Amino acid sequence: MKKIAVLTSGGDAPGMNAAIRSVVRKALFEGLEVSGVFNGYQGLIEGKIEQFQLGSVGDIIQRGGTILRSARCPEFMTEDGRAKAMEQIKLHAIEGLVVIGGDGSFKGANELVKLGVPCACVPATIDNDITGTEFTIGFDTALNTVVDVIDKIRDTATSHERSFIVEVMGRDAGDLALWAGLGGGAESIILPEKPFNVDAIVNRLKSSTSRGKKHSIIVLAEGMMSATQLAEILKKEAGIETRVSILGHMQRGGSPSARDRVIASQYGARAVETLLSGKKSSAVGMRNHKVVDYNLEEVFTKREKLDLSLVDLAETLSI
Ligand code: F6P
Repeated sequence: MKKIAVLTSGGDAPGMNAAIRSVVRKALFEGLEVSGVFNGYQGLIEGKIEQFQLGSVGDIIQRGGTILRSARCPEFMTEDGRAKAMEQIKLHAIEGLVVIGGDGSFKGANELVKLGVPCACVPATIDNDITGTEFTIGFDTALNTVVDVIDKIRDTATSHERSFIVEVMGRDAGDLALWAGLGGGAESIILPEKPFNVDAIVNRLKSSTSRGKKHSIIVLAEGMMSATQLAEILKKEAGIETRVSILGHMQRGGSPSARDRVIASQYGARAVETLLSGKKSSAVGMRNHKVVDYNLEEVFTKREKLDLSLVDLAETLSI
């Protein structure tokens, strides 16, 4: 193998830059040529491909976002789009591709594998919802961002003796809401993985009020319902007034945490190693504190469950 390329795709995540840096530097260290593909799969289709040197990834380890830019690309999901991408891959003599992104990006890589392009996928999404790895790049930074916001909201909630609903990202997964709720000391955590029980939430709010608690924080994963909907339900069902904070895309921004930089560096280098070792279709990740690589198929065939014992713990601790 002489030349590889790297792209970022899907929703951006803090730490993607650290992963790009790692892929590029590890590849150069191993004597490979390495190119950056701009704008994800769209850029692959359009040939937005640039040869990278050591300096191309200087001064980026601490930056949020992705210097390669990202995109969601419906054209790549068509045969025609993929044929155009293949033309560019051949034109640029790319023999292996590192894809940094979430499960949609991994599906794209799987299509390229079917066309004979070896791919190594690096999990990067604040949702932490990739099967086979305990942690994705960006989750830790987003988690710290959300906990910081919860702390701030708690100040004003206490001053005004109010209840707040904090809506966090997580289209299909409650990891961010669960960890942020536990880390932020939320009274209730509402997740897509757990049946919604309005009575239980109302009872918790009422019992904490009767014990003299004047404020509460409910953390809600966006995949369950919107904060506005929940506020309406609580008002209608129990006459409970809440204030709503929807955190939105700020959760995807900011300088990556030290932990995200470290795992991004580990994952990026491991992805290059898997390509060099001749693996055609792999994902990298973390299991029991060890960096691993595994067959990409696993990501699509298994579904890992969220550790709901953390919900029980959060409820126990917020009585
Ligand atoms: O997949 C990551 C994520 O941030 C989800 O949590 C969120 O629902 C979605 O992306 C938002 O996507 P978009 O970038 O299209 O607004």
